Amino acid sequence: MRKILVIGIGAGDPDYLTLQAIKAMNRVDVFFVPDKGTEKAALKHLRTTICERFVERADVKMVGIEVPQRAATGCYQDNVDHWHAELADRYGHQFESCLADGEVGGLLVWGDPALYDSTLRIIERLRAKGLALDYEVIPGISSVQVLAAKHRIALNRIGEPVLLTTGRKLAEGFPADAGSVVVMLDGTQTFAQLTEQNLEIFWGAYLGTPDEILISGPLAAVKDKIATARSEARARHGWIMDIYLLRRSEPS
Ligand SMILES: C[S@@+](CC[C@H](N)C(=O)[O-])C[C@H]1O[C@@H](n2cnc3c(N)ncnc32)[C@H](O)[C@@H]1O
Repeated sequence: MRKILVIGIGAGDPDYLTLQAIKAMNRVDVFFVPDKGTEKAALKHLRTTICERFVERADVKMVGIEVPQRAATGCYQDNVDHWHAELADRYGHQFESCLADGEVGGLLVWGDPALYDSTLRIIERLRAKGLALDYEVIPGISSVQVLAAKHRIALNRIGEPVLLTTGRKLAEGFPADAGSVVVMLDGTQTFAQLTEQNLEIFWGAYLGTPDEILISGPLAAVKDKIATARSEARARHGWIMDIYLLRRSEPS
């Protein structure tokens, strides 16, 4: 049977790679490299750096997988479902044509594969369609952990939960029953639209890279500063990845 190792590589700094990830990378016969065309420069750079630094085998192969564009209009859930089906077809084709029975394939996933990443769902789709495929998941350091570490904060207040969500969901309003909310995949600076009082924000962009930016403080006081820093950095680099924690200020 073919085997796929889904390896979390951490969110930005090659030093986030775990010993388990390095060992897994050296079991791989063929790395499958999704090509998004406009792939974020940092992701390409991190992948190249870690392969050069940590893969010791000289006979390892690299195979590209062209990633289709997801439709931007219409029903979001339907678009994602259709996109995953297309991705599964392309992954399946490459696994079948480039990985021999008994060989090990590798997929390097930004951050941790369990968090806002479609790789595991695509593999499950392929197995559901009958492709004989075994797989293992190697966890990575996610952007959520890096955000907390860089701001030197605990994500949760004592005994309280933390909600992980997206900019799209936050646009419906700050969740009434949530104390701490981590927001990812926010392309539109949703934090700036919130009308709730007494929120504080811990924001980070390009975490773990030389371009990292960190800003924190009461939301009302720093939201313009973040919006300006964000749009300037985005214009300078041509892309941005940012994440933030919002929480109600503690009564003094
Ligand atoms: C598709 S999700 C992938 C998350 C990834 N699997 C993880 O564990 O962090 C991409 C989102 O993660 C966040 N993100 C990932 N890496 C980041 C970084 N180095 N700096 C800031 N945000 C990051 C951003 O919110 C970005 O929009």
